[in-house]
Amino acid sequence: MKYAAIILSFVMSAMTVCSCLRSQVQEYNIGVSQCSTDDWRVKMNNEMQLEAFFYPGLNLEIRSAEDDSRRQIQDIEYFISQGVDLLVVAPNEAEPVTPAVEKALEQGIPVVVVDRKIASDNMTAFIGADNYQIGKSIGHYVSRMLRQGGNVVELTGLMSSSPAQERHNGFVDVLKENKEINLMCSRDAQWQEKTAYGEMLEIISEMDSIDLVFAHNDMMAYGAFQAAKSMGMEQSISFVGIDALAGTSGGVNLVLEGVLDASFVYPTGGDKVIQTAMNILQGHDYKKNYILETAFVDRSNAELMRMQSSHLSEQEMKIRSVNGKLHTLSRSYNIQKILLWTVVSIMVVAIILIAALAVLLHQRNSLNKELNNSQDKLEKLSSELEAATQNNHLQNFMESEFDVDETKLSAKDREFIMNLKELINNNMSNSDLTVDWLSEELGFSRVQFYRIMKRLSGISPHEFVRNCRLRKAKYLLLSTDMTIAEICYETGFNTPSYFTRCFKEYYNKLPSDYVRMRE
Ligand code: FRU
Repeated sequence: MKYAAIILSFVMSAMTVCSCLRSQVQEYNIGVSQCSTDDWRVKMNNEMQLEAFFYPGLNLEIRSAEDDSRRQIQDIEYFISQGVDLLVVAPNEAEPVTPAVEKALEQGIPVVVVDRKIASDNMTAFIGADNYQIGKSIGHYVSRMLRQGGNVVELTGLMSSSPAQERHNGFVDVLKENKEINLMCSRDAQWQEKTAYGEMLEIISEMDSIDLVFAHNDMMAYGAFQAAKSMGMEQSISFVGIDALAGTSGGVNLVLEGVLDASFVYPTGGDKVIQTAMNILQGHDYKKNYILETAFVDRSNAELMRMQSSHLSEQEMKIRSVNGKLHTLSRSYNIQKILLWTVVSIMVVAIILIAALAVLLHQRNSLNKELNNSQDKLEKLSSELEAATQNNHLQNFMESEFDVDETKLSAKDREFIMNLKELINNNMSNSDLTVDWLSEELGFSRVQFYRIMKRLSGISPHEFVRNCRLRKAKYLLLSTDMTIAEICYETGFNTPSYFTRCFKEYYNKLPSDYVRMRE
């Protein structure tokens, strides 16, 4: 019991140490379903990953549907089946993706819709810019650009996606007020540079003079520019886009290079997405409808934008490198933690083993003691047994002379035999053990004694005494280390030669024959 209590207290203290070592960070899994993989999406994904560094325990998994709504539905189904804690969805198209988002909500998964909307207000939060306002701002810009009037072409994004519809509506609503500006055509170029290129070639072949092309993003504006260039018309047309990304192929650079006249910052807001998602998961306040700010970019501020963007990307690089170092440090911390765990576990096992060993040793000692006691008892018993056996032998070598059934003897005869045996046995070494002395000791006359002996044993008292001596001698020869001479005197013979002669007569063997039989 004492040992069990000690072991238990050791195990409990080791468990306390171990539980202190265990990390307390709550894990969150967020699934991000992106509609595309262009530069704008890559920037947004980077921002989300960067922001995620500030939330230990947050795991982000990003999937792209590559502009395919069916694939996006599968991605959302996958995240639902994975049991993510929260879903971020940038829908490719509003209508087709809505049921999948609602399914996630029904399963208790909060959904943050970003950039493009779904065909329902049923969502946990929305983060994005006001595309209708952006459309209007561009309408105003175009109105200023074409003060004297002009012909405008619109290349829209995928018209089944909300930004394309809203940008178009805002743009058209402003142009409606300006009768000088003629919106010659609006074509769906599906957010793609290539599609815009193809559409623009067709439009150029169909229309007489084009003053300005408004494309719903910079990629499409660039595609339209390339198409115009291929026809040698790029100098006579103004191109306006949206997104104003940094980087060599981004809108800011296109403005600086004179490819675009203007662009509009369409914020990616990846950091805000993660902040809102974590506020939802951690039960903090969050904006249900987070509208990101936008900014107009033309030649007057493009250089400033470029500088700011490159400064920002430097900062981003630093954060990434710090995070990398942090990662390495946390890895080595984890390794150390595992080592500590291992050492503590080994110590616990060692302590348990030592304690068990102590218990076993203690048990062995008590068993040894018991064994010693039993051995002592056994030895005592065996010496008692030996004595009894010896006694038995002694009795045997006398009893056998009385060749009668003892139970048929009278009480007097039995008493006589018992007394005689005791007398002879006690005085065996006495060579003067005469028949007179014996009969006197037993309370009989010599004649009476002689008769009784004859009746009971068939031999004379003298013969009986001698036979007893020889039987005991044989017993001693076989069972002791005594010499023949010692046995001779012990059994009351005066000389070894006489003893040897009597022995040979009685047993037809020499005493030395029996000595050789000893073990
Ligand atoms: C990127 C993009 C952007 C555009 C936005 C609208 O995938 O096409 O160019 O501004 O999506 O959702």
